[in-house]
Amino acid sequence: MYNHKVFKRPFAVALNLHDHNTYDGRFHDQRERHTRFKHNLPYRAEAYAHQSDILNPGDYRLNDEFIKTYFNDPNDIMNQFSLVNKGHILAFTYTYGGIRKSKDYLFDTILKEHKEILNYEPKKLFDYYFKNNIYYIDHHQSHATYAFINSGYSHSDILAIDGIGSKYRTVFFDKEQNLIDLSDKLPIGWLWNHMSNLTGFGTLGASKLMGKVGYGKHSEYYYQTFETILDGPITEKKQKHFQHINLDNIDDLAFTLQKFTIDKIKKYVYPLKSCDNLCIAGGVAYNGYMNEEFTKYYENVFIPPAVGDEGQAIGTYQHCNFTKNNQIHKSETFAGKEYEYEGNEKVDYKEVAQAIADGKIVGWFQGKSESGNRALGNRSILADPRNPDIKDIINQTIKMREDFRPFAPAVLEEHYLEYFSTYYPSPYMSRICKVKNNKVPGITHIDGTARIQTVNKEFNKKFYDIINEFYKITGIPMLLNTSFNCQEPIVETPEQAIRTFKRTELDLLIINDWIIRK
Ligand SMILES: [Fe+2]
Repeated sequence: MYNHKVFKRPFAVALNLHDHNTYDGRFHDQRERHTRFKHNLPYRAEAYAHQSDILNPGDYRLNDEFIKTYFNDPNDIMNQFSLVNKGHILAFTYTYGGIRKSKDYLFDTILKEHKEILNYEPKKLFDYYFKNNIYYIDHHQSHATYAFINSGYSHSDILAIDGIGSKYRTVFFDKEQNLIDLSDKLPIGWLWNHMSNLTGFGTLGASKLMGKVGYGKHSEYYYQTFETILDGPITEKKQKHFQHINLDNIDDLAFTLQKFTIDKIKKYVYPLKSCDNLCIAGGVAYNGYMNEEFTKYYENVFIPPAVGDEGQAIGTYQHCNFTKNNQIHKSETFAGKEYEYEGNEKVDYKEVAQAIADGKIVGWFQGKSESGNRALGNRSILADPRNPDIKDIINQTIKMREDFRPFAPAVLEEHYLEYFSTYYPSPYMSRICKVKNNKVPGITHIDGTARIQTVNKEFNKKFYDIINEFYKITGIPMLLNTSFNCQEPIVETPEQAIRTFKRTELDLLIINDWIIRK
């Protein structure tokens, strides 16, 4: 693929505290899939275990070597930087927190010649720092590049929005690729992190808090509280000043925070519109309500699958490959590893679809794992969307999680308009829209919405086929699709899939072309 005489092959690393990841143009290594701790936070294992006697932090081999390898150890980072000597370009970016412990060490040793990085401030999307095969871009440039390159648009507005990166919190690029810093006006990710922490979901629990949005109503008290919080400079320490907020109604807090988010977006982002295309990335781009709102204002809206920091290495790689090699590299959605597995019995899709229609819940494991936090059809749990009780059953007996959390539908692309009120397909499950009828209560959230995924044959043939078999039996062209996990990150290997199958109430397990029964 690469002509080494002309091109230097980049290897990209994102030095993020929680979502450390690397990418070499093919394999996207999302470390949490291997450490088995969500966001690589072993010391938070108890937090995930609190409502389940199944998960025991002691199950995990948490030895020194393991921690060194996965948690911000300077030597590990050095190993990655040593690739430079092998003729690669080492492209990297970091979060403020991700490099904190190693910063002095790195800039005193291998990055001694590169201290300008500390003062690096981009003006344009494709600005970069480069010297002696070390390539650096800002965190928000990486988010923006990942969305823009994968969109295929020739030009686009881009919104990179998250809690914290390196120099920014929120950045907008216009169609001329000029950087407009919105960090002070729109620290929305910071606010969500702060609120999810305050309401007991943890700093990285914004998606859980978002599950509460549908249950609440507008509260002027919370709205004014958010206004007050955002008044004046935002620092991480500022959180301490807002411990007195009345938390009697978390539902209303969530609803109002969502409303506040959309109001602020309209106030600060809409006036910057410079063309009909918009790309969005950064952790806040997991907010499906916000993304759907943008489709009413922009002709085309693109949100890639790994919008959080788990996609940072891809954006950094793409940036470097574009500026140094003049190559536009679109990343694959399914960029994890492929695993061999040999079972005893070949799967029959008709039988599996019938079992789901009869109320069975199925673990579905195929090929390479997907980039990002959403299961898009290779590491999924599948169930019947017609069943009004299915949410409670899966939350209680398989996912072991809060009862208010909704499930998403994976719908055949040719049928989504019959069921959902939205403007165009949503292959990466990134938008939340209204459900049009009452035939699919299992995937309809309390506020009448669903975070839809549209599936066509080109995107994922096997996934399309199993949904299509279910459609032939029931007349319903969709399945409930939730990530294949129980309190952990999404399962990565067949062994992890089997372990989850055994310790939960899953009825059937499909691994590649094989079926496994209990
Ligand atoms: Fe980020």
